[in-house]
Amino acid sequence: MIGVFDSGLGGLSVLAAIARALPQADLAYFADTAHVPYGNKEDGFIRARVLAIGRHLVERGCKLVVVACNTATAAAVQELRHALHGVPVVGVEPGVKPAAQSSLSRRIAVLATESTARSERLARLVRDHAAHTRVQVVPCPGWATRVETLQLDDDAFIAEVRERIAPLLADGTDRLVLGCTHYAFLVPILAPLVAGRAELVDVAEAVARQVMRVAGPAGKGKAQLELLASARPEQLRAALPALGLGWLAERSHSIRLVAARDG
Ligand code: DGL
Repeated sequence: MIGVFDSGLGGLSVLAAIARALPQADLAYFADTAHVPYGNKEDGFIRARVLAIGRHLVERGCKLVVVACNTATAAAVQELRHALHGVPVVGVEPGVKPAAQSSLSRRIAVLATESTARSERLARLVRDHAAHTRVQVVPCPGWATRVETLQLDDDAFIAEVRERIAPLLADGTDRLVLGCTHYAFLVPILAPLVAGRAELVDVAEAVARQVMRVAGPAGKGKAQLELLASARPEQLRAALPALGLGWLAERSHSIRLVAARDG
């Protein structure tokens, strides 16, 4: 079984890519809905949640753990690798490298949570992979919570997104990196705003390819999906069709909703 987790719904975008890449894998998805969002929390708090959830998934039988959250990866992926003693851990990092490599204007922007935006890990990623590119890191407070509440067709929010993006486009930015897994579900808002001027860069497919490479026997199973949440697990199931992922529920032979223990 492969365990995938996030603060809430965002990691479902990564889960979907993994389910497409490994259609027979048994998957467990943990949403830390009692503590979402992570993006405005202290590193120490995020680290404690990452370790608790990672250990919990391994106790449930997961042989591979995917941190489907940029914020959690930036704060604690190294500690998690250390804590899980050899259980492979795949993290998610903003697609700075593919964006910098493909940008024609050599101007890219990374949309991220406040926590990821200030992280040393992102700063290093930029230093290592975007040396000759101008990189603007743009914190987007509140956006992940919008996705959590599934309130995405709200005019005020769309106007807020437009306002955040407009100066970047005006400045020649031609790649916008979705540096938070929740933002994959904002593509219906973002795509028309950037059409013809910039491309959105998401790494979910690349993460799924990495999961395929390291999964081994964990990638084979009965295509079961277990949904776990630290609060309101029933809303997790309800969110799947609302996010265009009804097929994910249907592909599974069984879905179990479990209010997994809190930290
Ligand atoms: N989905 C997460 C990420 O990729 C975090 C969102 C949040 O909880 O603030 O960064």
